[in-house]
Amino acid sequence: MKKITLFVSLLFCHLAIKAQQNTLNLLPVPKSVVVANAKFRLTNKFSVFVNGLKDDTILYKAVNRAYQALNRKTGLAFGFKYISPTDTLTVAQMQVAEQFKAKPTIGLDENYNLKVNENGIVLSATNTIGVLHGLQTLVQLVAVDDKGYYLPVVAIDDSPRFKWRGLMIDVARHFVSVEEIKHNIDAMAAVKLNVLHWHLTDDEGFRVESKIYPLLQEKGSNGDYYTQVQIKEIVAYAGDRGIIVVPEFDMPGHAQSWFAGYPELASLPGPYHPGPRGQWQQEHPDPNAPKGGSIADIIANMVAPTFDPTNEKLYLFLDKFIGEMTSLFPSGYVHIGADENNGMAWKKSPAIVAWMKDHQIANTDELQRYYVERVYKILKKHHRQLIGWEEIFNDKLSKDAIVHKWIPEGNGMVKSYGKIPDFTVHGNPVLLSVGFYTDVFMPAYIHYQNPFLQGLDDAGVLGGEAAQWTELADNENIDGRIWPRTAAIAERLWSPGNVNDVDDMYRRLFVFNRQLDEQGFPHLANYERALRRLSNGGPIENIKTLTDVLSPVKGYKKLIGNMMRAPQASYQTTPLTAVSDIIPVDSEVKRKFRALVKLYLEKHDKDAENGIRNYLIDWQKNDALIEPLFAGNKRLSEIQDHSKNLSAAAAIGLDALDKADKGITDAAAVQQRSAQLDSYAKPHYETEIAVIPEIAELVIGHVVAEPESYPSF
Ligand code: ACM
Repeated sequence: MKKITLFVSLLFCHLAIKAQQNTLNLLPVPKSVVVANAKFRLTNKFSVFVNGLKDDTILYKAVNRAYQALNRKTGLAFGFKYISPTDTLTVAQMQVAEQFKAKPTIGLDENYNLKVNENGIVLSATNTIGVLHGLQTLVQLVAVDDKGYYLPVVAIDDSPRFKWRGLMIDVARHFVSVEEIKHNIDAMAAVKLNVLHWHLTDDEGFRVESKIYPLLQEKGSNGDYYTQVQIKEIVAYAGDRGIIVVPEFDMPGHAQSWFAGYPELASLPGPYHPGPRGQWQQEHPDPNAPKGGSIADIIANMVAPTFDPTNEKLYLFLDKFIGEMTSLFPSGYVHIGADENNGMAWKKSPAIVAWMKDHQIANTDELQRYYVERVYKILKKHHRQLIGWEEIFNDKLSKDAIVHKWIPEGNGMVKSYGKIPDFTVHGNPVLLSVGFYTDVFMPAYIHYQNPFLQGLDDAGVLGGEAAQWTELADNENIDGRIWPRTAAIAERLWSPGNVNDVDDMYRRLFVFNRQLDEQGFPHLANYERALRRLSNGGPIENIKTLTDVLSPVKGYKKLIGNMMRAPQASYQTTPLTAVSDIIPVDSEVKRKFRALVKLYLEKHDKDAENGIRNYLIDWQKNDALIEPLFAGNKRLSEIQDHSKNLSAAAAIGLDALDKADKGITDAAAVQQRSAQLDSYAKPHYETEIAVIPEIAELVIGHVVAEPESYPSF
């Protein structure tokens, strides 16, 4: 008996150790996964019994969505059309159980427990939201072998690292349709994100319907805004998927669109119309203003339309407006923005300057504090917790205001308002988006290793948000900008901090990417459509061979270039259809190629060498195949240099492999080829060849660690 117990516990121990390393295809990786070498086979007999609260509509809808997702994925034609609260089926292959019914809320117990054995599945959770997370894990577990679809036998115990796991979508710079927002909500739910932070207003557009102040959307947008019916539809859609919706009404700065209809709210006279930051100043030139200067100087000195915080009517307006909005957004939070107000639009107003003197307000930072306090009180009256970008922070800030960190210290452009511990020590909950800006074209591993998140688990950090600003994203390319990289951020926010293997993250990220596509997310289809547009309806296969290994240049170079060009902020009028707009940010082919190069250089793996050769031969040949398509096609010709360079780089890579096979070393050639490769790494039309570093590694004969960061500016 003792022997048997010992054997069983050794076996369990073995499984547990193995489980630590076995992440399957799960993203985010659960807190604990124990995998056994056995399978649960899916057949058309697959059925689910819900032992839940009969009136839990969120639960039943989610179970049915998962059931049909498996049905579609496997094509098995499961026997049930709809799993219903009236089912009496107690002998089902899958049992779902919850103790409490819950709506998505920050701070709920989100744990779930999922046990799969050869004969059945049990998913249990404290409440609805835990079940929703478990169902997403269930769908990700489905695998296929030569006998058909199955789930591995596993025991999963899971709960999140952080309470607040968000995605911010800016819909002001470019409008994003209801359908696309819903796609994003589905993708968020798949990786257990729980907050859609909806940046609804900015200089360029006011995107929510107000019935009390209809000129907000009528004059503050180009007609693209969400009606109240649509807002309610999205809030409900998100709620069904375990996600709360937090609106952002950005003010006192970034507020030009408000003033198109209500110029009396602004600190300086109008007229106003929605448009990019800098537009008002261009239209109201000041001959005494400093000319030119660095970008940092331009940001510091820009006079940008801003609320007049000395106007009592403003607070009456905001009180009514917020009251109206709380009926649309039940989440309990309102984000008030408050970012990037340099105070210039206040300093320019003699009335405001005089008011500050009368009220002993020493500077515009203090005036901003006064303004935030007034808005805080309005939100309190409407039972809403205030969130603001870090510019709301000061040593008198109310302790329940949530500070949203976004500025990396020492960036040389905008000053930081404090480090995360400054905010948490003061007692303010903190959200983190610094390091999680997906609009800066960084590869997923940069976000995954976000240094700002290190050591922060117990320090008052509520969580974080991926942030997608949309100067360079529109309804068509935004999905490929946000995803799949946001899944890597979601893992940071959900999984334990010690889940940090970059190669394994990338392996799972691209599996997830295809799951997104399979479930109807449009990013891959949009990419191919954009390539067909680029080729004027011609063949795209060879174009794609090239564009699959290109990346947009990292950082804000493209945006800044665009803003400096005349007409200013051409990001509003330039269609986002260039190669740099349509290609995925993080090349999957590069990641696969990098994995092969690593295997070859570190383990001398012959199969890896063959795989590398296949890629290099394709790239070398591709230029001749694509060449005829460039004639007369200006947009496509933007990648003509890359085409030639990729071909030449591939030849260098093949030569390096041949030399290594023959044991030839030639230091002079290594130097000369490395220099050649450096020249091929140069950007053209805001794209660069992503695989040059790996080809360079073949030349020097060893792997080089990837940079820990890239400059944003
Ligand atoms: C911000 O990026 N201005 C919050």
